[in-house]
This record gives sequence, structure tokens and C-alpha cells, in this order.
Amino acid sequence: MAAGRAMTGGGGLATVRTVEALRQHVRGWRGEGRSVALVPTMGALHEGHLSLIRLAREQADRVCVSLFVNPTQFGPNEDFDRYPRDEAADAAKLAAAGAHLLFAPGLSEVYPPGHLARVHVPVLGDALEGTFRPGFFTGVATVVTKLLLMALPDAAVFGSKDYQQLLVIRRLVADLDIPVRIVAGETVREADGLALSSRNAYLAETERRIAPVLHATIVDVAEAVATGRNAREAENAGTRRLGEVGFGKIDYVAVRDAETLGDWDGPPQPGRVLVAAWLGRTRLIDNVPVPSG
Ligand code: PAF
Repeated sequence: MAAGRAMTGGGGLATVRTVEALRQHVRGWRGEGRSVALVPTMGALHEGHLSLIRLAREQADRVCVSLFVNPTQFGPNEDFDRYPRDEAADAAKLAAAGAHLLFAPGLSEVYPPGHLARVHVPVLGDALEGTFRPGFFTGVATVVTKLLLMALPDAAVFGSKDYQQLLVIRRLVADLDIPVRIVAGETVREADGLALSSRNAYLAETERRIAPVLHATIVDVAEAVATGRNAREAENAGTRRLGEVGFGKIDYVAVRDAETLGDWDGPPQPGRVLVAAWLGRTRLIDNVPVPSG
């Protein structure tokens, strides 16, 4: 099989591995007058991703999903090597969810030898996650910019669980004049409130039992500040509670302006509560809006 040709698995999902083959598909769809949505992923697909694919299907006639575990967004001591990878299982889920194209490039297709360019979004990308994972958002912004320019979709869909990532992507798209509509999907949760994440698979049984307290805590912090409690006090109370139930290092419980991620001045400006904390070797993140009135 030539490198650029599409392979079609069950359910009509074609798989391509080169930018040239991706663009050929997109050109074909455009020639038929069809609109295109892209859903960037790192694979290990769960119901949260599948909800984004369903949302993408509402946004456009054709849905392309990219699967690329992006090395530039992992720090040297992070989980790049053990990040779950199962392309065949992911492709089956995508076919069942009605995606049309899987773009699964190899490393050198995205980062050919000699590549140097990086996309950095200061301020938004330096706060919170940026403090604890230096370089993370430069890796995300770089690969997302590349994926958008590779596929040139009408819309691209991202989950709200990675709220700061969503803000960084909206900023880079606006600042770099990339002609794409960014669409946000709701966070999908387990019945006990735990946000779905590929990294939940790392949790031991005891850790999995504790994990939902993360969401419960930020909901309480959000309700407290909505009813006038001082943001710092509410953050501290949230941090204490997480420590008491067994979270190890708590990177942050933060009440922030939902648009700038700076300090929140209170209503009518929308607020957001964001958290990152460790259970054993697993780092979990989550966020909720501050209820408004
Ligand atoms: O959210 C993710 O899975 C990744 O950060 C993304 C957007 C696919 C970029 O690698």
C-alpha cells in the first residue's frame, strides 16, 4: 500500500497517514460542496471523545479525527512512553461513531527532521498548567496550529475538560487569522462526577474511589464564591479537603476569570474554578463554571 493511499476499515472509516492524502480527501469533499470538521485527539478514545465526534457531525458534513500522541507537549518526566496507544480499537470506535476519516500520521510526518518552529501563546499559556507543565502549551499550540493548517477544516472541536487548552487555542486561531470555527464540547462525566480522561485508566482501585472528590470540591468552591465567599479562602478550603481525602500534591485549586485566567473580579464577569491534583502517579485536572445568579 502506497504511503499516501487511504485504507478503509469497517464502517467506511478511511485511514490516512500523510498530509498529502489528508488534503486530497478534504479537497474531494470540498469539490462535492461538503463542509469539514476536525477533531484532534491523542487516541485512547473514550465516551468524552465520542461526544466530540457527534458534535462535529452536527457542525459539518464530514468529520476527520486526528490521532497523534504529540511528544512536544510532554515534559521529560511525563507519561509520553506509557500513554495508552491502541489505534485499531480507536478506529473501531470512530467508525461506530460515524467519523469519516482518521488521520494518524507518524512522528516524522508532523515533525520532519530539522523542524524548528513553535507557537507560543503567552499569558494564557503561562498560567496554571503552564506553571506546572512548562512548555506544555507551546507543544499543544504548535501541534494544533499544524493540524489546522494541514486539514484546513471549517470547524474544529475540542473538549471543555481541557478548559485552559481551549482558551489557548481560541487565542491562537484569532491571533494567527486561521480561518476555522472553534467549537467547545461539554465535559462528559462518570455517574459519580469524575471527568472522563484517558489517564483515568492509570488509577488504582482505591484511587478511583477517591477521584470523584476532585469534581465535588470544585463544585463546592464555585458555589461558595458565587454566594460571596472570598476566592482565596474558598481555594484554600478546597485544597485542604483534597489533601484530607488522600490527594497527594495539589498543584492548584484556582478561581479565575473565565476569559483571561487572571484574578476573578466577581459577577457579572464569568468565573471558572480549575483544579490539578495528583492521586499517586496520576495527575488529574478538571474545571467548572462559577454559577451566575
Ligand atoms: O487534548 C488533547 O488530546 C491534545 O492536547 C490535542 C488537542 C489533541 C493536541 O495534541
